[in-house]
Amino acid sequence: MEKMWAGRFSKALDKIADDFNSSIHIDSRMYRQDIKGSMAHAAMLAAKGIISKDDSDKIIDTLGDILSDIDSGKTEIDFNAEDIHMFIEAELTSRIGDIGKRLHTARSRNDQVALDIRLYLRDETEEIISLIKALIKAIAGKASENKDVIMPGYTHLQRAQPISFAHHILAYAMMLVRDIGRLEDAAARMNFSPLGSCALAGTTYNTDREMTAKALGFDGYTLNSIDGVSDRDFVIELLSALSTVMMHLSRFSEEIILWSSWEFKFIELDDSYTTGSSIMPQKKNPDMAELVRGKTGRVYGDLFTILTILKGLPLAYNKDMQEDKEAIFDALDTVKVCLEVFAPMIETMKTIPENMEKAASGGFINATDLADYLVKKGMPFRTAYKHVGEIVAYCIKEGLVLETMPIEKYKEFSPYFDNDLYDEISLVSCVKKRISAGGTGEDSVLKQIEFVTEFLNA
Ligand code: ARG
Repeated sequence: MEKMWAGRFSKALDKIADDFNSSIHIDSRMYRQDIKGSMAHAAMLAAKGIISKDDSDKIIDTLGDILSDIDSGKTEIDFNAEDIHMFIEAELTSRIGDIGKRLHTARSRNDQVALDIRLYLRDETEEIISLIKALIKAIAGKASENKDVIMPGYTHLQRAQPISFAHHILAYAMMLVRDIGRLEDAAARMNFSPLGSCALAGTTYNTDREMTAKALGFDGYTLNSIDGVSDRDFVIELLSALSTVMMHLSRFSEEIILWSSWEFKFIELDDSYTTGSSIMPQKKNPDMAELVRGKTGRVYGDLFTILTILKGLPLAYNKDMQEDKEAIFDALDTVKVCLEVFAPMIETMKTIPENMEKAASGGFINATDLADYLVKKGMPFRTAYKHVGEIVAYCIKEGLVLETMPIEKYKEFSPYFDNDLYDEISLVSCVKKRISAGGTGEDSVLKQIEFVTEFLNA
């Protein structure tokens, strides 16, 4: 295929160099965005009298045909083309000849590609947000079903204080709500059209960038043409938000993996989201969660790819930037597939409340509550803390737990202790009594579910 820029050259590009230079295997997936951008550009060229209305109409109609022909498979993308922009233009010209050759007036592939990526990312961001919402919904559903299930809350992976299972998983819902906020922020900052920046310096034609920006649903256009074609900060911002999404999914995965082990057995994943072993017949492995945890590294890597590509580039466009697409698409695909598998995995997982409660019982997890009991009877917290520490040490030595140590023994440590202490340190009341805003108490959990539900309905 002869290059569009062949005029200046006396020899064809070397075959290996040609393949090396080509990006169509990667960027062909932006054909829809490329065509939409070209349609808006052609309409503007006519409105400003740069090309005739007839030519513009012909270009726009034919681009519409090309779009539906690619969609339907009638037209196949030619992977010998240099990139998707060149392919669409060549296809247009092959269909309508010289008229098609007028499309690239007052435009460059540099603003074209900067535009296509933004349009592509805008669509994808929307899709990812709705996938995150589906996951939040699954979490809220599981939380509602398990409002009264008590589990150990951990710090340092040591049993710390009893909490409700609902409270624990709702923490992830809150993180995901913020993730959506980050994605929306990134999308809003991204939503300025670079089209019309041309190669780098703008153009001698009297173009209307406001018109194309509006037609393509942007909030405005980039004010500096060099910035418009050179920066990919919006990619970095988006991939950074996606890395945070993956970080959250990865932590959740880690817990799901732990919870499904025989050591914990707090949950059982559905058969449809687990796998067996090729040799050990008893195995039921949480592969989906492990893969999500593993793929998190990939998305971080994609972010670093973009950061590294850009760090030494002089303004304006450099071919290095062609390398951004593979990382962008990989990050988007990875996050989407992880979210797609995660929501139903959560939805279908069974909780095993007996095991959670067993793990929370008898392990001094209510020691804080015992100290609070003394405080409520008038003892300063630090003194109460010290007494309870001594009681725990005693219990460990004697093979007792707080629930079973007799009241006479308690009284030897402090006269403040009375029979009502046993009720105060029961797991149920430990959770119930945590009435502070945002705590694990019932009102707070209900409020969280309500917040999340309202967020999803908004
Ligand atoms: N395929 C190129 C890319 O993705 C398009 C821009 C090429 N511009 C140029 N001046 N060679 O970056």
